Amino acid sequence: MATEHARAADWASAAAAREPSASEWSTTSDTLAAARLEMARTPVDDWLIEVAADLLPGKALDLGCGAGQDSLWLAQRGWTVTAVDPSADAIAEARHAAAAVGVAIVFRVADIAAWRPASRYDLVVLTFALPARGMGRSRALEMAASAVAPGGLILLTELDISLGSEGWMAEKHLVSREELERHLDGFRVNRSVTRVARHRHGYEERFLPVASVVATRRTDLRTL
Ligand SMILES: C[S@@+](CC[C@H](N)C(=O)[O-])C[C@H]1O[C@@H](n2cnc3c(N)ncnc32)[C@H](O)[C@@H]1O
Repeated sequence: MATEHARAADWASAAAAREPSASEWSTTSDTLAAARLEMARTPVDDWLIEVAADLLPGKALDLGCGAGQDSLWLAQRGWTVTAVDPSADAIAEARHAAAAVGVAIVFRVADIAAWRPASRYDLVVLTFALPARGMGRSRALEMAASAVAPGGLILLTELDISLGSEGWMAEKHLVSREELERHLDGFRVNRSVTRVARHRHGYEERFLPVASVVATRRTDLRTL
């Protein structure tokens, strides 16, 4: 018992010894602010750069925004961004990052399988945030498609189904481009591919197979 107390005391003093000083804290917060600025320099998916290049900044919706990397990138380019995620922690981090970068973004804490947008958007982005296969995923994809204004664009990028056969992740969390396309009634599919993409989440970079679809909502009366 005495030994256990001694060990606990050792741990406590070791933890206290590791506690950063006031000056270290300020360095840490500077580093964090710098990291957030760095994160905002590139979107998660390279395709967003090409997609946005063809458009005048308008209203964008980032579904499952996480720490807000795509939202930040768009907002810095003049887009008026609404960002949705059910994780209050993720939204809090995205808010900090928006403040560090100096952009205004409208944040919503919500599940995209249940949330309904009040208006339509010129660009809807959904990267690596779809719920597992099932009703939730179908509802999220239907909502994403319905949120696109006539003439507007949608970019969907998710980890590709091929990763399942390698045991990398359960198949229900993966997506094929055919599945993404199935929810795009009333759209012209501009690009739909399985590719190996640079996948940047915050400070981490990986190359992984992804399924990506870019589509434009038709403007003819039949789809309005
Ligand atoms: C891997 S992160 C991707 C974040 C961001 N889109 C990106 O590409 O960096 C997945 C995010 O999806 C969010 N997410 C998971 N299920 C969701 C749902 N049903 N509705 C909205 N977001 C969801 C998670 O909270 C998480 O922030």
